[in-house]
Amino acid sequence: MSSEVKFPDGFVWGAATAAYQIEGGWNEDGRGESIWDRFSHTPGKVLNGDTGDVACDHYHRWREDIALMKDLGIKAYRFSTAWPRILPQGRGKVNPAGLDFYSRLVDALLEAEITPFVTLYHWDLPQALEDQGGWPARETAAAFVEYAGATTRALGDRVKHWITLNEPFVSAFVGYRDGRHAPGRTSLEDSFAAAHHLLLAHAHSLPVIRQNAAGAQAGIVLDIIPAYPASVSAEDQQAAWMARAAHHLWFLEPLVGRGYPQAVADYFKMKLEFIQPGDLNAMAAPLDFLGVNYYTRRIARSAEIAEEDNLPVTVTAAQHKTEMGWEIYPQGLLDVLVWLNERYTFPALYITENGGAFPDALDEKGQVLDEDRVAYLREHFRMSAAAIQEGVPLKGYFAWSLMDNFEWGFGCSKRFGLIYVDYESLKRTPKLSYAWYRQVIRQNGFAD
Ligand code: FCB
Repeated sequence: MSSEVKFPDGFVWGAATAAYQIEGGWNEDGRGESIWDRFSHTPGKVLNGDTGDVACDHYHRWREDIALMKDLGIKAYRFSTAWPRILPQGRGKVNPAGLDFYSRLVDALLEAEITPFVTLYHWDLPQALEDQGGWPARETAAAFVEYAGATTRALGDRVKHWITLNEPFVSAFVGYRDGRHAPGRTSLEDSFAAAHHLLLAHAHSLPVIRQNAAGAQAGIVLDIIPAYPASVSAEDQQAAWMARAAHHLWFLEPLVGRGYPQAVADYFKMKLEFIQPGDLNAMAAPLDFLGVNYYTRRIARSAEIAEEDNLPVTVTAAQHKTEMGWEIYPQGLLDVLVWLNERYTFPALYITENGGAFPDALDEKGQVLDEDRVAYLREHFRMSAAAIQEGVPLKGYFAWSLMDNFEWGFGCSKRFGLIYVDYESLKRTPKLSYAWYRQVIRQNGFAD
């Protein structure tokens, strides 16, 4: 007997992208250099030497992309504005051509009845600011507020959903500690300072956003990876707690006024001297929503210490992995949403990213039959519906990603899209998952 998985009326079905991953046009119309341009142009940093110079060429093909979004039926589109397109030097002189690009995009989205959700920072810091110290420097937060001001002044009359930062954990720790992302630095102390200044940038931009975009909803997006203990031992439980704390509690707790988890600072012997009076207070300003990016879980084992981050090792279960090597664990999404709702009181939650990379290829008929992605989505939708049943104020879901794109250090080798992109011809081909998602959106659910 088949049952139905149903979503509430008005549930916001969407898809997400980010500027550097899709736009291309890296040096056009006055755009400045970003840390990702510098990083990807440095040999050996990105797999196969791929860059975002062209990416999906969305900078020129955005009309076609909006037509595809309309055909897909999404109610909302989450994209990011490129800071170096708007302020090529990071602060100071605004580049009107950069703002015009986003203004046209927003107009066309609204005309297609698609609500724009704009992320201000999805990792593409202007290189000029990195040259002055980057996120470990407090001044970068002030520069961000300037950029948020210029962008919301130009778009705030039409854009009513604003996200300050995407995954500050990754910006700070993968960019400044692990060096696997731009700017490729490897200092633990700098990464903690970067994390603080990112949260400060978020905090100080909120009032500016609210002033420039009357009635706007403003929030932040965090990547949440639940860590489960490998055994019931107290040591493994503690290891799992530390894995969660050093990853997302470090951001969540100050955002709700509880300050940084001291046990994490102690563990890493961090003095946190960068905190100034008033900082923690500003970070605790209420949010209209929290965006959750969910991809996988971790399993924490106390016995070994990982070299990369000095934490007890976290492993991925051997089976059901995506092309990223990430375990497919839909239950974790439900666990995260329920946990967030029990521990905090965010007025609304959105899944701002969820999806998987699979070995997609065009078949002889020119189709991409990505049944593995359909199965992935179905299971995660099921968990989303279950969370709503349990009282979680989940308002929407954004698939990562609308189309295949530049997957950071992995270049163009990982395909996450509902739409296949041929990087030679730049032709777009909707995949089977696109057709399936369209049905789900139309019916606001699916037969189980
Ligand atoms: C997230 C990023 C997004 C994309 C996915 C796969 O961490 O926010 O840009 O790369 O991972």
